[in-house]
Amino acid sequence: MKPIQVGLLGIGTVGSGVFNVLQRNQPEIKRRAGRGIEIGMVADLDVVRAQSLVGPGTQVVNDARAVISNPDIDIVIELIGGYGIARKLVLEAIEAGKHVVTANKALLAVHGTEIFAAAHKKGVMVAFEAAVAGGIPIIKALREGLTANRIQWVAGIINGTTNFILSEMRDKGLDFAAALKDAQALGYAEADPTFDIEGVDAAHKVTLMSAIAFGIPVQFDKAYVEGISQLAAQDIRYAEQLGYRIKLLGITKQTAKGIELRVHPSLVPAKRLIANVEGAMNAVMVQGDAVGTTLYYGKGAGSEPTASAVIADLVDITRLHTADAAHRVPHLAFQPDAMSDAPVLPMGEVVTSYYLRLRVADQAGVLAKVTGILAQADISIDAVLQREADEVGGEGSTQTDVIILTHDCVEADMNVALAQMQALPTVLAPIVRIRKEELA
Ligand code: HSE
Repeated sequence: MKPIQVGLLGIGTVGSGVFNVLQRNQPEIKRRAGRGIEIGMVADLDVVRAQSLVGPGTQVVNDARAVISNPDIDIVIELIGGYGIARKLVLEAIEAGKHVVTANKALLAVHGTEIFAAAHKKGVMVAFEAAVAGGIPIIKALREGLTANRIQWVAGIINGTTNFILSEMRDKGLDFAAALKDAQALGYAEADPTFDIEGVDAAHKVTLMSAIAFGIPVQFDKAYVEGISQLAAQDIRYAEQLGYRIKLLGITKQTAKGIELRVHPSLVPAKRLIANVEGAMNAVMVQGDAVGTTLYYGKGAGSEPTASAVIADLVDITRLHTADAAHRVPHLAFQPDAMSDAPVLPMGEVVTSYYLRLRVADQAGVLAKVTGILAQADISIDAVLQREADEVGGEGSTQTDVIILTHDCVEADMNVALAQMQALPTVLAPIVRIRKEELA
């Protein structure tokens, strides 16, 4: 059988990885897929550079629509990124009857409902393994490997840039700005790192995982998003003294009231495997009612790790494209007519535990007032750490840091208690609040 024909839109880091791995591993891939997989056409604005990457045997054009309209192309890989032209091209490719493979988490997290509906109507597949955690086959695990389970929660380190920065802050005692500079110098962070450091990239990814874990539509607009740019080195240090590491987690949980969907820095017990994921690596924990806790670890970005995921999708499509569309794996794991309308909960309704750091006047009764407010809000304290005033503010200091770990409570109750504590005249600076996940 002749190889299935693939058109590639955008040949940057990931695209060239796809091209190289496909060439290098073609015999193995063919044995798995049942036929060869060939990139027959590439579209890129920089035609000369693209041609030099793929060699003279592959047609390179500067117009993506020439790929989409080519009747010989069966699958279109979209590696352009962003929500603008990429959305238009993906919808046009679907309309032209092409299967689509994309690594574009932003596009699917924001416009997934429209794109999956169009694909369903047209009977084509949209595959996106590379959109979440790069080379880790987490979409496959959630959508296929764990189908026996009621998934209870998913929690992941799904942004390598921020994990690298947090590792640098902890290892070297750096503050955020210095660690970000290191990450930029080493190529782990982009010149404009906003999407990564403010949690947006992780929120795109956890939105996709939430949809396939619970069979709900993709709802990026309902995700709570908080990044790491406000984290202070001293909180990483205090957390360590209490037996925790701080990680940027993407978390989604099924609760009796609805679905939690959130990204924020979290204290994680240092003894958990996931707390020891360092540098730019990614890891995702999934808890299912039958399987228990599972953990997936690997590279979340990079040319060939991401290509590994893209090519896995190409193989899946090659195996399935002649199958009756109704017998393929549903895009979002659940049959389109069996999706859940469980609401995504506002952050105020989320239940979690907390690390609080209060800069207080070092005088009698201060701690009693603070713990009194927590008691009144029915928030139970798990641990308290008070630093010596001299250690915090230098010799003769009259201020100190009090660190409190709480048990689970409702976020709205914590917000009320925080406002009351902040209003105490003996609380001398904005209270630091970081959420805590036991992941047990
Ligand atoms: N910028 C992402 C990260 C990789 O730092 O993990 C692509 O999603």
